[in-house]
Amino acid sequence: MHLGVESAYDKKTSIMKIIKTINEIRKQVSSAKSSGMRVGFVPTMGALHAGHLSLIQAAQKACDFVVVSIFVNPTQFGAGEDLDKYPRVLELDAAKCESLGVDVIFAPQVSEMYPEKFESWVDVDGEITQSLCGKSRPGHFRGVTTVCAKLFNIVLPDIAFFGQKDAQQLAVIKKMVSDLNMLLSIEACPIVREESGLAMSSRNDYLSDIQRADAAIIYQSLLSCEELFISGERCSNVLKSKITSMIATVDYARVDYIEIVDPGTLEPVEIVEDKALIAVAIEFGPARLIDNIILSLNNV
Ligand code: PAJ
Repeated sequence: MHLGVESAYDKKTSIMKIIKTINEIRKQVSSAKSSGMRVGFVPTMGALHAGHLSLIQAAQKACDFVVVSIFVNPTQFGAGEDLDKYPRVLELDAAKCESLGVDVIFAPQVSEMYPEKFESWVDVDGEITQSLCGKSRPGHFRGVTTVCAKLFNIVLPDIAFFGQKDAQQLAVIKKMVSDLNMLLSIEACPIVREESGLAMSSRNDYLSDIQRADAAIIYQSLLSCEELFISGERCSNVLKSKITSMIATVDYARVDYIEIVDPGTLEPVEIVEDKALIAVAIEFGPARLIDNIILSLNNV
């Protein structure tokens, strides 16, 4: 395997490069663009699993040149969160990307993205960032939008790919791109799950085997809620209480939130009339797990 740093990308021999600097990634993308390639971008924090890989495959289907960023973004972690223990496994990630045929990995150091005296922030205001995860993780989305705005400005992709797994992040990013007239489109990709139904996440590795097996209750509760909806229940409180009671069967699980909201604005929905997002965040021992499902009358 050839993993070079900072040298030119060579399409003929398909050598994937790991690039650490903004100048170099700009050169690479601009040369791909000047040969008429459509650039796809998959921003990640690494520790890549099948969920991330599905985004890369979607990018490869839609684009000619695929950039994956791997950057554990410190500004989206709050005090006391898992910034220090977040897995950093660049070599392993690079091997996965290379086997999929990714063109370039952009893996900057923190000082490259946030040099001294960095003072400009991108903040999407309102319910969309203050509800759901925004309540228990104040400042989180400001970190996400700031780093994504920077990455979009650096990579200048035609399309960026995000997972439906982080439904609020997806809604916030779409809002930022629309409000700030950013010249790219955002493509949403479906949630990839473990065999048990647990949504794949880099944080699942914090769980013991028993906790990981127990955590399957999260998706099971979402599916039961969907069944209730299909059988005619439209009242959010009743739908939510189905999830609450199922999560309560795991004595150490702690509900952070269970909400039913509009998938675009994330405003609460009392009676599900058309489409609604059920989003949950559950603390499962050492990991805070999020998951969601979209209820739609079209599926009834
Ligand atoms: P990270 O958690 O590494 O996720 C990167 C992308 O992978 C996100 O778009 C996320 O929604 C998607 N993803 C994660 N698990 C998934 C799953 N099981 N199925 C489908 N897609 C999944 O999200 C971030 O990083 C960061 O906030 C980032 C956007 C990179 C900004 O720092």
